[in-house]
Amino acid sequence: MPHAPADAALVKPAARVAGRLRVPGDKSISHRYAMLAALADGRSSIQGYLAGADCLSTLDCLRALGVTVRRTPASPGNRETVQIDGRGLRGLTAAAGPLDAGNSGTTMRLMSGLLAAHDFQTVMGGDSSLSRRPMKRVIRPLTEMGATIDSDDGRPPLVITGARLQGITHRPEVPSAQIKSAVLLAGLQAEGETTVLEPVGTRDHTERAFHEFGVRVRKVGEAITIVGGQHLSARDLVVPGDVSSATFWIALAAGTPGADIEIEGVGLNPTRTAMLEIARRAGARIDVQIDTEDGGEPMGRIRVAYGSPTSFAIEPHEVPGVIDEIPGLAALGALLPEGAEMRVHGAAELRVKESDRISCLAAGLRALGASVEEFPDGFRLIARPLTGGSVDAADDHRLAMAFAIAATGGAGPTTILGASSVDVSYPGFFDALERLTR
Ligand code: S3P
Repeated sequence: MPHAPADAALVKPAARVAGRLRVPGDKSISHRYAMLAALADGRSSIQGYLAGADCLSTLDCLRALGVTVRRTPASPGNRETVQIDGRGLRGLTAAAGPLDAGNSGTTMRLMSGLLAAHDFQTVMGGDSSLSRRPMKRVIRPLTEMGATIDSDDGRPPLVITGARLQGITHRPEVPSAQIKSAVLLAGLQAEGETTVLEPVGTRDHTERAFHEFGVRVRKVGEAITIVGGQHLSARDLVVPGDVSSATFWIALAAGTPGADIEIEGVGLNPTRTAMLEIARRAGARIDVQIDTEDGGEPMGRIRVAYGSPTSFAIEPHEVPGVIDEIPGLAALGALLPEGAEMRVHGAAELRVKESDRISCLAAGLRALGASVEEFPDGFRLIARPLTGGSVDAADDHRLAMAFAIAATGGAGPTTILGASSVDVSYPGFFDALERLTR
């Protein structure tokens, strides 16, 4: 479907890149705090909640399931705050109609874990992108625990009929924090113990958030275990800035001669910062300082300056730790000096994100002038002088931002089609870009 011009953004070449900023709240942490607060006893308050479309989908779903949610939108000097009156373990009530998870895979997969333990039926769907995404990875373990989940051969909409669940031991088919979290959320509400085996670590926000709400989770080697039936106590929490959103500014500074950017109040959970090491390998000058911790999540500042940009690779074992950062790192690849390369292998999972992020990234960066060879599980990009032009973000928030960053290195302006998709995780992205490149 052609995009209306209203959904396009114009990005001009950037001569100068400098400034200090905060990024919006962490998407993964916002979803988890809202869901755990909904299961807790008492009233929780979440400051810095991401007012992006994905996390608002989670709030809408919770409201539809009987949870009282009050939003106080951001105002000058104050960040968005969400107050949630918890309904206690297995205290959600049947929704009057289908739930809409919008574009959010996290909402659908984690809510499935929550709903699997509630003995009523829920229909949950999403937009055209989410409707193409694989759900068998959560349907299988939740069914094994006792829930009944119908789907369109593993694709949404899901029809979830909850039940009294039994704990299981589950080894996810791919390294995935969403599968791990769905199973642990169901496990919290199940009989006995539930264990997720995780040979390759993924983001551990669920485990940290459980701890914060007073729930014990044990980690021994690759096994993460929760005992069912533990009650959660309401909390007042602060969501750090999203380090995946910060990646776009790191790419911008690392790829623009003379650039210097400082990002404050950003989450520095070590399961999310592998991208910093890769950006350093690509020649960026990066200093990191942890300033504080809230909810078990470290946060602080990242200062990134232009250094000596050079070829870099992302190895297969590194992929789960930078799965959301590859589009931003690809923008850095496109900004490297002519002839330098970026290579990624072992990233087939990118094909089932909000878009097929391998072929859409390749198509978009080629349209801007880069040379890109696509593999089934990755790509090789060779930096060429960027031209600018017109590029389609395929309604994928991270692609819209990646193309915008690459476009700052163009000889001429670039039109990004589908630009409003940035609202999924980074409302205000284009304003921030303008401020940093003025
Ligand atoms: C997320 C986990 C990742 C990530 C997604 C958010 C989460 O997905 O890509 O944006 O909040 O748990 P997978 O677990 O499917 O890899």
